[in-house]
Amino acid sequence: MKFAGSHILSISQFERAEIEHIFEVADRMAPYAHRQRITRVLDGAILGNMFFEPSTRTRISFGCAFNLLGGEVRETTGFEATSLAKGESLYDTARVLSGYSDVIVMRHPAGGSVAEFAAASRVPVINGGDGANEHPSQALLDLYTIRKELQHQGRDGIDGLHIAMIGDLRYGRTVHSLSKLLCLFSNIQLTLISPQELRMPAEIVDALRSAGHTVVESDTLEQSLAHVDIAYATRIQEERFATLDEALLYRGRYRLNKKIYTQFCQPNTVIMHPLPRDSRAEANELDNDLNDNPNLAIFRQADNGVLVRMALFALILDVVEQVDSHARDVNWYTERRFE
Ligand code: CP
Repeated sequence: MKFAGSHILSISQFERAEIEHIFEVADRMAPYAHRQRITRVLDGAILGNMFFEPSTRTRISFGCAFNLLGGEVRETTGFEATSLAKGESLYDTARVLSGYSDVIVMRHPAGGSVAEFAAASRVPVINGGDGANEHPSQALLDLYTIRKELQHQGRDGIDGLHIAMIGDLRYGRTVHSLSKLLCLFSNIQLTLISPQELRMPAEIVDALRSAGHTVVESDTLEQSLAHVDIAYATRIQEERFATLDEALLYRGRYRLNKKIYTQFCQPNTVIMHPLPRDSRAEANELDNDLNDNPNLAIFRQADNGVLVRMALFALILDVVEQVDSHARDVNWYTERRFE
């Protein structure tokens, strides 16, 4: 695909070589993301950061990524802060906002809504999560993190991995996008651990099998974790259920904690979660007692979001080769806080 000027709506739009290219560009963003250098390559550009669902990581990291490239961010959060609450259509909203911005990131509770918005937009649109459908930039940062974690362990490559996905695989858009992304790789073993009612959509399981991967579905956590390279936990997506009572049937069903990890996982199993984790005592799908485990990658995963999102902006706005020529050292004291 041509990156410059393109929308990013689904992870399925990428070929494997393009994923590798995004990761190469993300690596080049490290001095800027880690506050060693400043670049002003996007000086004068404006990001429209439109979030119609709650977000901490995606909204702030897209905004930071744009700022770190020298651009400015205008954002809105929630329907009530926009004229969508007065009945304005996505079409009109897109036509208007794309006159104010050079690129737009949008999150919306309805699957397909970001694609509908993008069809009317005059500038590139990045899907920041559309309902239970997709979260393509999360899949990119997840795979980027898997690659880095394995490199840190002296291992190489995604092909041949054994990955367990745990929790709400029906409504979790991050596991949908990550599964589609894994279809570009070879010989992966996937163990999908969920309640029967919250299984991965059949078309995604079919796509994984068509890609030659081995898929095992299970509703038990402990025994399924043996021989797993990556344990990817997810939250029950309570906001997607028809009623809270229905969601409560599954809250707390799976709880990955120190005892289970120690007993059932390999010593080097990487622990991931897209976050937010639900830390309420009655949920707690990823326990705080793993916080000191060196294989807990969740905060490195969140940090990597900035690198990957900087890479996407640099590619879409076609400035990759200009980033370093618009750079200088930082003026302020910076703690070394990135691993
Ligand atoms: N992972 C993720 O999408 O987090 P937020 O909902 O906080 O953006």
